[in-house]
Amino acid sequence: MLVRRTRDILSSEITPREHFLNRRDFMRGAAGVGAAALGADRLADLVSPHAAVLADSTKLQTVPGKLTTTGEQLTPLEDITHYNNFYEFGVDKGDPARNAGGLPTRPWTVKVEGKVKKPLTFDIDALLKLRPLEERVYRFRCVEAWSMVIPWVGYSLSEFIQQCDPLPSAKYVQFLSYYNSKVEKWSSESTIFWPYSEGLRMDEAMNPLTLLTFGMYGEVLPNQDGAPVRVVVPWKYGFKSAKSIVTVKFVDKQPNTTWNDMAPNEYGFYSNVNPQVDHPRWSQKTERRIGLPFYAQRKETLMFNGYSDQVASMYAGMNLKKYY
Ligand code: MTE
Repeated sequence: MLVRRTRDILSSEITPREHFLNRRDFMRGAAGVGAAALGADRLADLVSPHAAVLADSTKLQTVPGKLTTTGEQLTPLEDITHYNNFYEFGVDKGDPARNAGGLPTRPWTVKVEGKVKKPLTFDIDALLKLRPLEERVYRFRCVEAWSMVIPWVGYSLSEFIQQCDPLPSAKYVQFLSYYNSKVEKWSSESTIFWPYSEGLRMDEAMNPLTLLTFGMYGEVLPNQDGAPVRVVVPWKYGFKSAKSIVTVKFVDKQPNTTWNDMAPNEYGFYSNVNPQVDHPRWSQKTERRIGLPFYAQRKETLMFNGYSDQVASMYAGMNLKKYY
């Protein structure tokens, strides 16, 4: 991405996987904050008996998702967790794995505001139990022309939106990420306006493919991948998938989004994966599949990242070169 650094950063050793994945003790310490943010009656309405997080573990109980991409080799967990963009924790790909350990993922609430019947606050543990968690394997494509195949865990964002009672005037959904300059002191390395903001048109947000995501590879999200909750929009470039979400805002106008604000000529609001529209600095015709042997990495980029059947109709009649 186009990032102006405020200073140069030295690369150092990558943290071993166990150091950041084993948050068992932390999770144990956080037990009990559960339903605090939701009224008990509201919670009873929302929480189904699906036991999403297995006791005393970072493991998640999942059912296989129907909306899944099959037949492609999964990207190793090591790559998914050490090749990240999470600029709050630094500008280099290895920085989030090194620096995101201090992200406080419990207690955690997601506020719902804007064009809704009534503003709400959801506790993360209530959200985890709202619907059965599905494992869905999606291609994930970054505008920097690399891609991965990831077994995400979550449920359709539409299931959550239904609980939010948006008003008919809600035309877009905006996602705001956690921001605390003390926890995310590396955020000063770039000139991004914080908090990180992304948005979707309402029909895009309601498309069943759009995933409210809590985990990957059967476990809770590692911090550097957007714990404890993010969205994943598999037919759009990765930057549309905001991490570590604390606010969901329903709005009547297209919301400001981080990269569009930074460089509107480079990052459009829609950002659908489109091999015919090159980014000024990266051709979008092909991509490098991370984690495969070198000779097998280069792949042709597919329109809508291969999800045309499910999403193309939402853009019928739109000039996708103009609305990139
Ligand atoms: N969300 C926040 N809060 N901060 C970020 O810097 N980076 C975006 C997106 N979501 C980003 C974010 C970009 S540019 C990409 S490509 C994806 O997250 C990367 O997700 P990954 O690191 O899990 O692959």
